[in-house]
Amino acid sequence: MCGIVGYIGTQDVTSILMSGLKRLEYRGYDSAGVAVIEKNELSVIKTVGKLTNLGNKLKERTPHGHIGIGHTRWATHGRPSDVNSHPHQGISKEFAVVHNGIIENYLELKEWLVKEKGHKFHSETDTEVIAHLVEEFYEGDLIEAVRKTLAKVCGSYAIGVIALKEPDKLVAARKDSPLIVGLGKDENFIASDIPAILNYTRDVYLIEDGEVVEVTRNRVKILDADNNLVKRDIFRVEWDAEAAEKGGYEHFMLKEICEQPEAFKKTLSGRIIDGKVKLNELNFTKEQVEKWKKVFVVACGTAYHSGLIGKPLIEDFLKIPVEVDIASEFRYREPLLNEDTLAVFISQSGETADTLAALREARAKGATTLAITNVVGSTISREADYTIYLWAGPEIAVASTKAYTTMLIAQYLLSIYLAQVKGTMPEEKEAKILKALQELPCKAEEILEQKEKYLRLAENMKEAEHVFFIGRGYDYNIAQEGSLKLKEISYIHAEAYAAGELKHGTLALVTEETPVIAIALQEKTYEKTLSNVKEVTARDAYVIGLANEGDQEILKTVNEAIYIPKIENIVSPILAVIPLQLLSYYAACVRGCNVDQPRNLAKSVTVE
Ligand code: G6P
Repeated sequence: MCGIVGYIGTQDVTSILMSGLKRLEYRGYDSAGVAVIEKNELSVIKTVGKLTNLGNKLKERTPHGHIGIGHTRWATHGRPSDVNSHPHQGISKEFAVVHNGIIENYLELKEWLVKEKGHKFHSETDTEVIAHLVEEFYEGDLIEAVRKTLAKVCGSYAIGVIALKEPDKLVAARKDSPLIVGLGKDENFIASDIPAILNYTRDVYLIEDGEVVEVTRNRVKILDADNNLVKRDIFRVEWDAEAAEKGGYEHFMLKEICEQPEAFKKTLSGRIIDGKVKLNELNFTKEQVEKWKKVFVVACGTAYHSGLIGKPLIEDFLKIPVEVDIASEFRYREPLLNEDTLAVFISQSGETADTLAALREARAKGATTLAITNVVGSTISREADYTIYLWAGPEIAVASTKAYTTMLIAQYLLSIYLAQVKGTMPEEKEAKILKALQELPCKAEEILEQKEKYLRLAENMKEAEHVFFIGRGYDYNIAQEGSLKLKEISYIHAEAYAAGELKHGTLALVTEETPVIAIALQEKTYEKTLSNVKEVTARDAYVIGLANEGDQEILKTVNEAIYIPKIENIVSPILAVIPLQLLSYYAACVRGCNVDQPRNLAKSVTVE
């Protein structure tokens, strides 16, 4: 995710900005830049690629000064490129802005600025509107211009702004995106994250939503949303830099599991309006959607597992058959694709070689191609006809967590959207599902509040040689993802079985030594699943049931139960996987495994 750092003081600003950005590298980024107020000029130097690229550019010409802002960008609106990198400027080159977050109404604001105010834009970013708005509203008082700007924008932001005419201050603000002020002697800092400033100070102000701050060399003024002066206590950072990079979490995987409520909000943001799904990135007509006789969903690993849940959704809502394929198998079985096919490619990274090859195959055969990915400007997003971005923020741990759950949300949105266009979505059902999707961040939070209880379960499972995950329908699909998570990071052998299929062979492997996780959330198959659970308890296996809150019935059949909060049944897979992610995470911890980088695995697999 993007990172912000800003400095005002007596030292040379460029080296401080670069050292701050370096400390934010772990967050993932694809371009970087700095803006520095020199004597009579505001210099902006930025480039696509890693900080070494920026360092090389700065060697050619290093701006010298005592105030500046820097940014590492992880592309959202507009692909990674020099021009889309931050800082952004308006037309006069007298202001520079860095921004984390998403400005949802930027297109509308851009149109207003271009048509009514004669502004010209340089980049494809949403951020650039902030620079133009600040410029438009500036009447000699930067903080006032920023306030007026923020009154116009909808969305999430942490911003840092500097102005050539006011070289003695940094202005920053936040809403739904972290921002801190670092306090030094004769110098102060702004940053999106604590690690950026830990080399210089441990004393910070944590800025709250809706606040705007004015930072000079020796004073920090915090104003609330009503322009009242705020008194804030100093927060003393006690962690070391590495822990801070992980936001205080021991591993990126746990951080990313815990980021899911936030990621859900971002995936949903601006996509459910007045009870309808709005996917501005798609502009399908009824004729187009009606033309598709079949849908293929193609992906690898965790992304493939997400597609297994997309299949019944599309089949149910659109009433057309869906095939889900492992990308590495897809090309070699001569799939029946043609102009009447929609082919959906799911990939967190957007770079997985097999998924990309499958996409090219589908295009060559004339199918309409649609990518679901987390990485803006990735190859798969560039080559597909249409792309839905997850906006989940970078995922660093090899084992995918927040990308998986947001892939699910994207597929619920996609299938409802397509059914809306086709006219096959019953309104009442649509309303129920959309309401439930909006409840997800809160309900996920409830699960995460009790995350430590999965540590005990993991302790109990620590010596197991094999673990089975069973379920039916969506519960089976979640079992598949749960079992992959457990084996990839804890190295415990795990298998997922359709609960009804166990007795056709695999039941032979179940003994009292085999923990079984039985997922029993789907109302339609609940009784049948419990019958299958009895088959394993009869073999003395220890069974942990994953059930809906309030389900006491299950306790008659399983040894113990874990629960997810009550939610519309069809949406439960999105919550159900979270306890399984936590269980796998703690199992890997208690077995002393390298959680974030399991042996033999890579985050992005770019070979076929
Ligand atoms: C690798 C990763 C998995 C991921 C799979 C597909 O195997 O280790 O976590 O699910 O690739 O990656 P993608 O980026 O295409 O979703």
